[in-house]
Amino acid sequence: MAVGVRLSAALSRVAPSQTTAMTDRAIALRAEGRDIISLSVGEPDFATPAHVVAAAKAALDAGDTKYTAVGGTARLKAAAALHFARDLGIQTDPSRVIVSAGGKQAIFHALLATVDPGDEVLIPAPWWVSYPEIVNFAGGTVVPMQTNAAGGFRITADQLEAAITPRTRWLLLNSPGNPTGATYSSADLAALGEVLRRHPQVLVMSDDIYAPLRYTPGRHATLAVECPELAERVLTVSGVSKSHAMTGFRIGVSTGPKWLIDAMETLQSHSSGNPASISQAAAVAAFEGPQDFLKDWCEIFRARRDRVVAAVGAIPGLTTPVPDGAFYCMIDAAPLMHRFGDDRALVLHLLDHGVAVVPASAFGGQNGFRISFAADETKLDEAIRRIGAALA
Ligand SMILES: Cc1ncc(COP(=O)(O)O)c(C=O)c1O
Repeated sequence: MAVGVRLSAALSRVAPSQTTAMTDRAIALRAEGRDIISLSVGEPDFATPAHVVAAAKAALDAGDTKYTAVGGTARLKAAAALHFARDLGIQTDPSRVIVSAGGKQAIFHALLATVDPGDEVLIPAPWWVSYPEIVNFAGGTVVPMQTNAAGGFRITADQLEAAITPRTRWLLLNSPGNPTGATYSSADLAALGEVLRRHPQVLVMSDDIYAPLRYTPGRHATLAVECPELAERVLTVSGVSKSHAMTGFRIGVSTGPKWLIDAMETLQSHSSGNPASISQAAAVAAFEGPQDFLKDWCEIFRARRDRVVAAVGAIPGLTTPVPDGAFYCMIDAAPLMHRFGDDRALVLHLLDHGVAVVPASAFGGQNGFRISFAADETKLDEAIRRIGAALA
């Protein structure tokens, strides 16, 4: 950097995303001619459904290429309200919905709009990589809440009670979770709700972006429905990135109390402005169109999950819990760590053997790594064969 210029204090508190870093590294090695299988990315490997692509093309042809309302078109807000009711059981209305450039932007704006220096944000670990960095950027204090495989990577009510202080501003809940697949039941949420009721200063973000990708039959449980008396301080984040293989479209939808949705919209009006008009038209088709393909995708993901869990379990020193949702396995490699020192060194060793994965420490975990099973079975089988050979 040139003499005399510097980064802001806010940015210097933020580390780059390690999942993106690992994906970039795999791409660079491939460009050098190396054969690398990447299991580091967080997106479905399926094609975007044809009716969604057709809606995007139709929007272009219709000249739907201009600014829209900052918080999303009326049509998409209504379609998102339909999605919240049908898929999550949350009754809302378009005035309490905001459309943003991916779920990530909604989380960014919600935290930036509400967190002041010194405010504490409770984040169950292992966590999605961006949560702590966004809190750091906002000047808040990350309060990690450690979970483990034995407890299903879920926080307990006692843990929550012990972590809350008068400075607690948010609890970030992610179910099904990235990177563990942890999924909270109605009973889990009711117990957390009991605690939250006693602490009115705490807002809750329920990041349900993976809710359509669950492998245990039954209704998805979400805090705004399980504890309706808390709904006025719950922001539910969802979208089409994962459920409809639309990561590149950059559309997320959120619902919550009107004051918070309005605050997020104020920030959005000065950052990105409206989400892309063409992507919004595609997202309307995603929410309003057929949903039956999801059943097939879940079947495929479930079969891959079972295959990966069995193959990883057969490698001495590795264990993985069976994730209930999303498409990741958080693999424990604790018995092997003495050979590597830390999980970053282990992951670099695996990269040398042709597989890109992400170290658990990138997610606030330890002694292991995350793989994504959003890849076809041939790739998964070969990747796990390479991991086995690298660790033999
Ligand atoms: C837990 C979680 N929340 C939110 C997002 C953001 O998704 P997007 O911004 O692509 O819609 C992701 C993406 O990886 C995620 O894993």
